[in-house]
Amino acid sequence: MNPIVEIRNVSLHAGQEVLIQGWLYNLRESGKLLFPLFRDGTGIIQGVIVKSAVPPDVFETARHLTQESSVRVTGKVREDKRAAGGFELEVANLEVLQQIPAENPYPITPKEHGVEFLMDLRHLWLRSTRQHAILGVRHEIIKAVRDFFDERGFTLVDTPIFTPSACEGTTTLFEVNYFEDKAYLTQSGQLYNEAAAMAVGKTYCFGPTFRAEKSKTRRHLTEFWMVEPEVAFAHLDDAMTLGEELVAFVIRRVLEKRRAELKTLERDVTKLEKCATTPYPRLSYDDAVKILKEKGSEIQWGGDFGGGDETILSEGFEKPVLVHRYPSLVKAFYMAPDPQRPEVALCVDMLAPEGYGEIIGGGERLADYDLLVKRIEEANLPRQAFEWYLDLRRYGSVPHAGFGMGIERVVAWVCGLEHVRETIPFPRMLYRLTP
Ligand code: 4AD
Ligand code: MG
Repeated sequence: MNPIVEIRNVSLHAGQEVLIQGWLYNLRESGKLLFPLFRDGTGIIQGVIVKSAVPPDVFETARHLTQESSVRVTGKVREDKRAAGGFELEVANLEVLQQIPAENPYPITPKEHGVEFLMDLRHLWLRSTRQHAILGVRHEIIKAVRDFFDERGFTLVDTPIFTPSACEGTTTLFEVNYFEDKAYLTQSGQLYNEAAAMAVGKTYCFGPTFRAEKSKTRRHLTEFWMVEPEVAFAHLDDAMTLGEELVAFVIRRVLEKRRAELKTLERDVTKLEKCATTPYPRLSYDDAVKILKEKGSEIQWGGDFGGGDETILSEGFEKPVLVHRYPSLVKAFYMAPDPQRPEVALCVDMLAPEGYGEIIGGGERLADYDLLVKRIEEANLPRQAFEWYLDLRRYGSVPHAGFGMGIERVVAWVCGLEHVRETIPFPRMLYRLTP
C-alpha cells in the first residue's frame, strides 16, 4: 500500500511511490508524453506520464481527463529542479473518481472571466490559485489575531448575534422576526464586551457582524467578521497602542508564514514590511482636516471623512495612520468626550496605507451614568433596551476602551485586492446573497 501524501509534503517522500488524491488542474500533451497538473488543496504537482511506461488504458484515461475531474494517482516522487515546487510525480496508475464529461465541462477555464460570472460561481471559483492564496492569508490573519490576544491574557467572550438594540446607528440595522417579537442582527459586540471587560478585565469577541449597508463600495459588506478587544481601566492612548501592536503583529506573521501566497497574489511585500514595526503615525482630526483642505478636499471641520478623504490621507504615510478625536457629532453615542474639548470624542480610526481605508474604529467609552443617559436620549435610542448597559455605569463604573478591526478590510489590504468581495469565502453585499 502506498502512503496517501498531501502535495505540500511530497518533498518528504522523494524517491518513494505515493498516492495523491485530488483534481486535474491542467493537462498538456507532447507526443508520447502527458503532463497533467494535479491539485489537492495543499498544493499543485506536475505529473509525467510516459506512454511506453504505463499500461495503454492508463495513458488513454489520462489523455482524456478533463479539468477538475477527481482522481487518485499513484506514482513515484522525483526531485526535479525545473518543476514548480521542485518535485514531479512519475505516474504509474490513475483511478478516476469522477470524469467531468467534455460536453458539460467545468465552467471556469484558464481564460479571463468577468467578476460577476465568477461571483455567481463562487463555490467553484474558490479552487483557483489566487482565491486559494487569499483563503490562506485570511486564515493566517485570523490565527494571528487570536494568538495576539491569547498571548496577552485576554479572555475570549462570545457575544450574541440576535440583539434587542442598535450599537452603531439605526440606519444599518437588519431586523428579523423573533417569535412574537423582533430582533436585530448584531452590528458590533461592543456593548456586551463592555460587560465582559468588567468581569474579566481584558476581553475580546470575534465573530460575524451585520450592517444593512445600502451603498455599493469596494470596502463594504453586509456581513463581515470583526475582532473587538475591550479593556477595563484603559484610555484612548492605550487603545491606540493596542491597535498598532495588533496590526504590526498580524503583518509580521503573514510575512513570516505566507510569502508563497503573497507571491501568487503579486503583492509588493516591501510595502507591507514597512508596517511590521510600531509606532504608527498619529494625527488629530483637526490636523487631518487641514491636510485634506490643502489637498483639495471639500471637507469642513465637523464633517465625517468619505472614502475619498481616507484615501487622500493615507497616501501621505507608508504606515497605517491613527486619526483621533473626531467631532462627537459624527460618532456613536457611547464615545467619551475629551474633557479638555467636549466637542470632540476620545476616539480613533486607523486608516490603512495605499488607500485601503479604515481598518480599525474605537476609543474610550463614556463611563459617566448621567452623560450616557443624555446621549442615549439624544440619539433617539429606546432607553428600555439599554437599561442593562446602564447598569455597567451604576455598579462600579471605570474608564475603559477598545476597538473593532474588520477582518475583510485587513485581508484586502494585506493581499492588495481591489475589492473586499474576494476577501471572504461567500460575500454578502447589497446585490449578492448567492451562492
Ligand atoms: O468603526 P466601526 O463601525 O466600529 C464599531 O463597530 C465599534 N463598535 C467597534 C468597537 O469599538 N468595539 O467598525 C469597526 C471596523 C471598521 O473599522 C471596519 O474595519 C470594519 O469594522 N467595518 C466593515 N467592514 C466591512 N464592511 C462593512 N460594512 C464594515 N463596517 C465596518
Ligand atoms: Mg468606523
